[in-house]
Amino acid sequence: MSSNSTHDQELSPQDQLKKDAGVRAAAEIRSGMVVGLGTGSTVRFALEEIGRRISAGELTDLVGIPSSQQTEDLALCVGIPLSNLNAHPRLDIYIDGADEIDANLDAIKGGGGALLREKVLAQNCARFIVIADESKFVKHLGAGFALPVEVLPFASGAERRFLEQLGAEVNTRTQANGDAVFTDNGNVILDCDFGAIDDPLDLAASLDGRAGVVEHGLFIALADELMLASPNGVRLLTCAVRDPQGPIA
Ligand code: A5P
Repeated sequence: MSSNSTHDQELSPQDQLKKDAGVRAAAEIRSGMVVGLGTGSTVRFALEEIGRRISAGELTDLVGIPSSQQTEDLALCVGIPLSNLNAHPRLDIYIDGADEIDANLDAIKGGGGALLREKVLAQNCARFIVIADESKFVKHLGAGFALPVEVLPFASGAERRFLEQLGAEVNTRTQANGDAVFTDNGNVILDCDFGAIDDPLDLAASLDGRAGVVEHGLFIALADELMLASPNGVRLLTCAVRDPQGPIA
């Protein structure tokens, strides 16, 4: 994510949809809120709009809690005051993108590598809004996007073997020069192609129970709303089914 504003650049049709979703979500922010700030190219537009509203005097006394170093840098650049989760352990609202999301509002996240902190924010917010362009809305999670799994470097070989035994084709995430990508938490990411995931809850349970797997990108029963942008406008989708272990009300 570069820190240049996208305001005056010509946007691709997909970026225009990301912007529509981001601006729509930013309209939900009120003065005084503690706001979780996700990571990625869709959230970027929400951050810019929140920054614009702050500088226009529409929003005051707001603090943002960033989910990554990348987001922290951009938020500071657009003028969003920041704090941290220890000072503000409960968020009023959390806005983030997704790599895939289905009709139950279950999602795959972590394409940007920030899944661990993102999930921490998601489980400590009153309201989690996912923003996405229509390409992210899928019938079956996993069919078009490999599941990111964050693992301890110490155990990466053993975790790769474990994930392969679960049926995934596993690739270590690397930079352009071939070196492994390290997350903000000092871990590595294994991108796991499971194909269409039959039972996301069951897979999440297997990953949750495995030492060495720090976190995975299955976000089950966490999102409250989806703002889904298409050329016809931004649709608001909600899910009636809620896991009792989901966000704190
Ligand atoms: C970051 O780790 C991810 O979870 C992002 O939220 C997700 O990859 C969506 O990113 P884009 O908005 O860039 O597609």
